[in-house]
Amino acid sequence: MQIFTTRKGLRDYLNSLENKHLSLGFVPTMGALHPGHISLLESAKKHCDLSICSIFVNPGQFNDPDDLKRYPRMPEKDGELLTKHGCDVLFMPEVEEIYPEKPNESYDFGHLDKVLEGAHRPGHFNGVAQVLSRFFNILRPDRAFFGEKDYQQMLIVKALVKQLDVKVEIVPCPIVREPDGLAMSSRNALLSQKERELAANIPIWMNWAAKQLTGATIEEVKHSLQEAIQQHPELRLDYFEVCDAETLKPFSGHLNAKPAIALIALFCGKIRLIDNIRLNSYNLKV
Ligand code: PAF
Repeated sequence: MQIFTTRKGLRDYLNSLENKHLSLGFVPTMGALHPGHISLLESAKKHCDLSICSIFVNPGQFNDPDDLKRYPRMPEKDGELLTKHGCDVLFMPEVEEIYPEKPNESYDFGHLDKVLEGAHRPGHFNGVAQVLSRFFNILRPDRAFFGEKDYQQMLIVKALVKQLDVKVEIVPCPIVREPDGLAMSSRNALLSQKERELAANIPIWMNWAAKQLTGATIEEVKHSLQEAIQQHPELRLDYFEVCDAETLKPFSGHLNAKPAIALIALFCGKIRLIDNIRLNSYNLKV
C-alpha cells in the first residue's frame, strides 16, 4: 500500500498512472476503522481498478469540541488493517494540508441539510461538504463509497456532486452490524460496557418500530419508543423521525406507500449514536 500525506505526493502518483486509465474508487474515512469501513473498501476494490482510502478527522464537521477531542485516533492500527485488506493507496493528510486557509464556503442543500443531523448538529454537513469537495478535487475519483448508516450524509453527498458538477458516482453501501445488531461505528469503541449493552437495544427498537408502523401511527410509535428509552437514565433520545427516503421530508400519521425510512439519534452516556431502517412497502398497511 502506498501512503501519502501531501496533496502533491498523491497527485504526482496518480498522474504517473494516468496512461493506464485505471478507474479510481475512493473511501473517505475519519479512521478508527471497523468492518463497516472494510466493507466499503471491498466494494471499491470490486468496482474499481485502484482503491484509495483517506483518513482525516475533519475538524469542520464537529460542532462539539469535546466530540472532536475524544474522537478515536489509531493511525497505525488502521494502516495495518488497510494493508491486510488490500487497499492500494492511503491518503493521511494533516489539517494544514487540506485547509491551508480557514475554509469559508457555505453550502445549501435545501431541506436535506436542515433536518435530523442538520438540525441537531449545526454546521456539520457544511463541514462534510467542505472536506469532500477538497478530496474530490484532489483525487478525482470515478466512484466514492458511503455507508448507509449515515443515510442523510449519503443523500447530501449525492446533492453535493450535482452542485459541484463533479463526475463521481456515489455508491451507497449497506449498514454493517455487530452480531447483536448494533450498527458498526467508530464511536462504539467509546462506550462503557454498560452503555454498550444498552446500545444493543437500538436495532431492537428500530425493528420493533418498523413492525408497529404497519398499523400504528408514527406519533404512537414515537411515543412508545420515547417511553422505552426513558426507562434507562443513561439514554437520551435526540430524535426519531419517519421520512420520505429520497427527500427526508417528515411523514406523520399512518405510512403510505411511498418509500420511507425511520431514523434515530440517541445519546448513550456522552456518546451519540445513529441508526436507521428502511420501511418497505411490503410491510405497510396501505
Ligand atoms: O462519514 C465520515 O466518516 C465523514 O463524514 C467523512 C465522509 C469521511 C467526511 O469527513
